[in-house]
Amino acid sequence: MRFLFGIVVVGLVVLVGALAYAMRYDEMAEITPPAASTFDRALLDKGTLMAGMGDCEVCHTRAGGEPYAGGLALPTPFGTIYTTNITPDPETGIGKWSLEAFTRAMREGVDREGEYLYPAFPYNHFTKTTDEDIKAIYAFLMARVKPVKYTAPETALPFPFNIRLSLAGWNFLFLKKGPYQPDPTKDEDWNRGAYLVEGLGHCGSCHSPLNALGGEKGGANKFAGGAAEVWYVPPLNTASLAPIPWAPSALVNYLFDGWDKQHGITAGPMTPIIRHLYDQDEDDVFAMAEYIASFQRPIEQAKVDDAMAFAKAREWNPDAPTKPADPALQKGATDFGRLCANCHKLNGQPVPLGLTTTVNMPDPSNVIRIVIEGIKPPPGSRDRSMPPLLVNDGDLAAMLAFMRAQFTTKPAWTNIDEHIKAARAPAAGH
Ligand code: HEC
Ligand code: HEC
Ligand code: HEC
Repeated sequence: MRFLFGIVVVGLVVLVGALAYAMRYDEMAEITPPAASTFDRALLDKGTLMAGMGDCEVCHTRAGGEPYAGGLALPTPFGTIYTTNITPDPETGIGKWSLEAFTRAMREGVDREGEYLYPAFPYNHFTKTTDEDIKAIYAFLMARVKPVKYTAPETALPFPFNIRLSLAGWNFLFLKKGPYQPDPTKDEDWNRGAYLVEGLGHCGSCHSPLNALGGEKGGANKFAGGAAEVWYVPPLNTASLAPIPWAPSALVNYLFDGWDKQHGITAGPMTPIIRHLYDQDEDDVFAMAEYIASFQRPIEQAKVDDAMAFAKAREWNPDAPTKPADPALQKGATDFGRLCANCHKLNGQPVPLGLTTTVNMPDPSNVIRIVIEGIKPPPGSRDRSMPPLLVNDGDLAAMLAFMRAQFTTKPAWTNIDEHIKAARAPAAGH
C-alpha cells in the first residue's frame, strides 16, 4: 500500500512539475528605451487618461516617493507585496520593456523576464483592455513619466506563496485572458461602462468579496462588498446599504465629484479613485454610472421620501441629539453634540449622516477612520472637508452607539472596542 502511495505521490509531483514547466514564460528581449518623440500627441493624451482610469499612480507611488517609482507596501492575507518601479528608467524601471512585454504583463500577469506577477497587480482586470488602450498607456509611461532610479523592497512572501510558478494555478482558476467582449443585448453606453469598470477601473478588486485563494467571487456575490485595509468596502449591487438606492445621476455625481446630496461624501481608499475619475471624459463616467446602476435595486419614490423624512427627523431636529430616550445613549448624544453637531446639525451643510452608507454599514470601521483622519475631499467637492478629530476611545465608542441608534434603523454595532483598536493601528497601504 505504502509503496503504491509513494508511486502515486512521485507521479503527481512529476506531473505538477511538468505542467508548471510547460506553463513557464520566456524572457522577452530588452530594447533601448523609445524616444518620447516617437509617440504622437493624441496617443499620449489617451494614455494619460487611461493610466488614470487604471490608478497606476495610486499603487505605484509610495508615501513621499516619486510618482510611478513604486515601493508602496500592499498588505494581503498572504503577506506584504511591494509595488515595482514602472517609470521608464532602464535599470530599475521598465525602460527596457517592449510594447509586447508590457502587453503581456497587462494581459497575462507576467514580467519581461517571464516571471509570474502577483494578482495584487490587478491584471485579471487589466487583461480586458484593448490593444489600443494598452499601447496608449505604454506610450504615456515611456514618454510622460519621469525616469526615476529606485528599487522597491523585494516582496518576500512565506512558503508556498513565494513560488511564483504556483500562480499558474491561480491564473488557471481566475484569469480569463483577453479583451472585453461586448454584450450584444446591451446598449453601447452600458458596454463602454462595463469595459471600463471591469477592465482598467478594476472596481471589483475592492467591491467584490474574495474567496480563500484571493479570487473574486462572481454571480450574486459580484459587487457584494469587500475590504480594503481597515476600510469596509460597500456593496454596489442590489445589496447596497444606501438608504436611497443609487440612481444613475447620483452615481455620476459621486464618481466625478465624490459627493452626492442623497448619499454623502467619499472617503479613504475610494478618494484617489475619484480623484482620477474627475479628469476623465464625461461620456466615460456616464457610461460607468449606467453600468453600475444596472446592478441596483429599482427606485421607489415612496421609499425615497420615507428615507429622507426619517433622516431629517432624526438629525435635523434640534431636540433629538441631546435627548435620546435610552439612558445608555445619552453620553454619546452629549459627546456628539459637543464634538460633531456644530457641523453635523440642523439643516447643516453636510448630508444627514443617516442617508450615508457609512453609518448604515455592518461595522463602524469607516466612521472611526473618518473621525481619526478627517475627510480630504477630491477636487470636485473641495470645500467639504472635515478635520481629523482627537477623541478618546470611550467617547468615540459612546458616540458610535448613539449615531447608529439615532440615525439608522439598523441593529446596534457589536465589538465596537475591537473595531476602534483595529482602526487606530497605523494605516498601511494607500
Ligand atoms: C492595486 C494596485 C495596483 C494597481 C492599481 C496597478 N498596479 Fe502595477 N503592480 C502592482 C503590484 C503589487 C506589482 C508587483 C507584483 C509582483 O511583484 O508580483 C505590480 C507590477 C506591475 C508591473 C510589472 C513591473 C515589473 O517590473 O515587474 C507593471 C508593468 C505594472 N504593474 C503596470 C501597471 C499599470 C500600467 C497600471 C495601471 C494601468 C498598474 N500597474 C496599476 C500593483 C498595482
Ligand atoms: C481600493 C479599493 C477600491 C476600489 C479599487 C474602488 N473602490 Fe469604490 N469604494 C471603496 C471604499 C473603501 C468605499 C467606501 C468609502 C467611504 O466610506 O466613504 C467605496 C465606495 C464606493 C461607492 C459608494 C457606495 C455607497 O453605497 O456609498 C461607489 C458608488 C463606488 N465606491 C464605486 C466604485 C467604482 C465605480 C470603482 C471603480 C472605478 C470603485 N469604486 C473602485 C473602495 C474602492
Ligand atoms: C468642522 C466641521 C465638522 C466636524 C466638527 C465634524 N464633521 Fe463630520 N463631516 C464634515 C463634512 C463637511 C463632511 C462631508 C460630508 C458632506 O458634506 O456631506 C463630514 C462627513 C462625515 C462623515 C462621512 C459621511 C458620509 O458622507 O459618508 C462622517 C461619518 C462624519 N462626518 C462623522 C463625524 C463625527 C462622528 C464627528 C464628531 C466626532 C464629526 N463628523 C465632526 C464636517 C465636520
